[in-house]
Amino acid sequence: MKPELLEEQRESWGSRGGFVLAAVGSAVGLGNLWGFPYKLYSYGGGAFLIPYILALVVVGIPIMILEFSIGHYTQRAAPDAFKRGHKRFEIVGWWGIVLAFVIITYYPVILAYCISFLGYSILGIFNGGDLPWAGKGIEGVTNAHDFFFKDYLGHQEGTALGSIRWNIVWPLIIAWVLMYFCIFKGVRLVGKIVWLTVPLPWLMLLILTVRGLTLEGSMQGLAYYLDPVWSELAKPVTWRYAVGQVFFSLSLAYGIMITYASFLHRKSDLNNNALIISIADFATSFVAGLAVFATLGGMAFVTQQAGNPVRVENVAESGPSLAFVAFPYALAQLPYSAWFSFIFFFALVTLGIDSAFSMTESILASIVDKTGWRRSIVLPVLSLVGLSFGLLYVTQGGFNWLDTIDGFVNGTWGIAFMGLLECIVLGWLWRIGTLRRHANSRSDWQLGRWWDYLIRLVIPILLGTLFFWQLFDDISSGFLFRIEAEYQSSLDESVISEELRKDFEDKGSVISQDATFTVEQAGMSWLITDEENKYLLLMKEEGRLNVYNSEGGFLRTPGGEWKLPNCVGLFIVALVPVFAVILSLVRGRRDVEQPSSKEADFSTRGRYGGVVAFLLALIPAVGLLVILLGSSIPEAAESKLGNPVFWLLLAVGIIAMGLSNHLVDKHNTSSSQVSWFARWAGILATVDVSAFIAVILLGLKGGVKISEETMPIRDKLSGVSYIILGAVFLIIIGGLAWCFYRALLAANAGKGIQHPDEVGDETAD
Ligand code: PHE
Repeated sequence: MKPELLEEQRESWGSRGGFVLAAVGSAVGLGNLWGFPYKLYSYGGGAFLIPYILALVVVGIPIMILEFSIGHYTQRAAPDAFKRGHKRFEIVGWWGIVLAFVIITYYPVILAYCISFLGYSILGIFNGGDLPWAGKGIEGVTNAHDFFFKDYLGHQEGTALGSIRWNIVWPLIIAWVLMYFCIFKGVRLVGKIVWLTVPLPWLMLLILTVRGLTLEGSMQGLAYYLDPVWSELAKPVTWRYAVGQVFFSLSLAYGIMITYASFLHRKSDLNNNALIISIADFATSFVAGLAVFATLGGMAFVTQQAGNPVRVENVAESGPSLAFVAFPYALAQLPYSAWFSFIFFFALVTLGIDSAFSMTESILASIVDKTGWRRSIVLPVLSLVGLSFGLLYVTQGGFNWLDTIDGFVNGTWGIAFMGLLECIVLGWLWRIGTLRRHANSRSDWQLGRWWDYLIRLVIPILLGTLFFWQLFDDISSGFLFRIEAEYQSSLDESVISEELRKDFEDKGSVISQDATFTVEQAGMSWLITDEENKYLLLMKEEGRLNVYNSEGGFLRTPGGEWKLPNCVGLFIVALVPVFAVILSLVRGRRDVEQPSSKEADFSTRGRYGGVVAFLLALIPAVGLLVILLGSSIPEAAESKLGNPVFWLLLAVGIIAMGLSNHLVDKHNTSSSQVSWFARWAGILATVDVSAFIAVILLGLKGGVKISEETMPIRDKLSGVSYIILGAVFLIIIGGLAWCFYRALLAANAGKGIQHPDEVGDETAD
């Protein structure tokens, strides 16, 4: 143990249970009962489950183990933990913390909505069961909608903020006060509070699920939830939101799990706990999905009975209002509605509170670790600052902004990028083997080398692909600026060559006599060249056909408008690294000991190999730039797939990646370290490979036809749904049983037993 850590008694959890529950408490939150169902409902329906489960297993769980091991190994909150690797890495730690700060400005706002609705439900109970949004049939739908948007939010469309809604300010203050009192005493109290805030919502959730499943029509909801419409998988948004949701739901990449693990006893298990927590979080989301969709099925059934043949996918408005419009409506239709509504919002509040304070705790611990300032002073200041920023969202236009900013922070630009950085830094630049051995030395079961490869290769490639996929998509869709040139008569039909016309028709688009296009594939775009060789990019956006004019690159003609929400969202995610750098430059109270200074004595190996790998990795990077420059990306992507040079470059990238990986494996030993060339070569090569895969996906996308046919109302589960259901139960029940079995085995073998007072020797790795 480092002397500096001995000199200061770091706080710790009371018990393994306390830690596991606190981590579960952080992970399981509004993200499960509010976020998961609404994201699934908005992006892909049942098909969302597939990328979600994949991302959970391949990305989420390994990163959770990674965060636990780095936090526990260094016993520091995120920034200092990363700093142990190299002083520049501290930026990565702050990056996550700043993202957590952005979330802490709006997460309590949603909590505030829940508190208000909890209040309305309690009033309802005393009012003889009348909820303020009650109403039957279509009238009930309108009532619930109006109640939330008009009466409660005073909602106003557009980007203007409007005036502050005092009726939301009060519950927001209550939320912050609750969070404050939960953590001001330190983590030991947190370890106790979560014994209440974790099991209680589960009980509520079970009641709601049983209630939902016993509703007539619930099967329709389940068919929607469990029977995927496969073509949804061809849409990038389905993947994007599924991966983002995994990070958000597991509280990964915000520094929280690092901080929580840093409070853990030296001897406690890491791998098994990470697995248990991830599975518990997934189980909660899944069951929440059952409750929500069964209820929506019931809602659809009632509407159909009233003569409106609506399907589950259209019965409610999708988006973050799902929990505050559709659910209250559905609850109001049931007997004892006020009671069930009470249960629902009580579950949301208890779920949300421990997640919210985990964010505060992580930011707090990072500041305290760095500056040595007193918790009792930092916490109230932090709470006040968070609350003040929160006021932006409790304005009339605030709900729109909440949705936009959440989309950015929890999307590819925010959180997935941070996860990518984390894996790259720890996988390539640091010695991931050290972390693995640290975790293995105290865990109920052992990680193999496969875990290194997941962190170093597989996850960066997946997240990198996602990132480039989105980047290309955004660039080609006029992400920040919209040109107001709606396609109509201004374009002479003659400018469209025969070939292109065929192309359009092949893709299911129609060119009518008066040269207006109906483009059926959402998100598609085509390039048209006129006689003067000017490009016109046609694109269907928000249901209408826009024309983008460009000469050479993108030429933006006047008369358009900035897409303000996207600009602001991008600005915020771009500010995050800026703040991260500034924070990392602030002088800390003491220097964190860095193993790399110890490593300075190690001999550096693999220099030549490293240089070769680096040069190899440069080739595809430059090649791809050349390919993509000068042409618009979708066109380039589609036409390059047939080009052998493209595939050759990709092969070079893969070879460079394999070579660097080999060098890192071979030379990072107990007496030597691999050269920095090899490490950076590895990073560059993984980035190359992901960019290539993104281009391939983009190229293929042109060929996929996304069906927009309406399907009949489904009220039976298909074979596929049973397979999905089986897989989910296997993951949840089989997984948990396995975890407990391994824990028991380890306990019997004398490992994994808690020695709260014992301080282990940590320099052994
Ligand atoms: N995981 C929490 C949820 O699902 C949210 C959260 C995100 C908490 C990030 C902490 C950090 O609601």
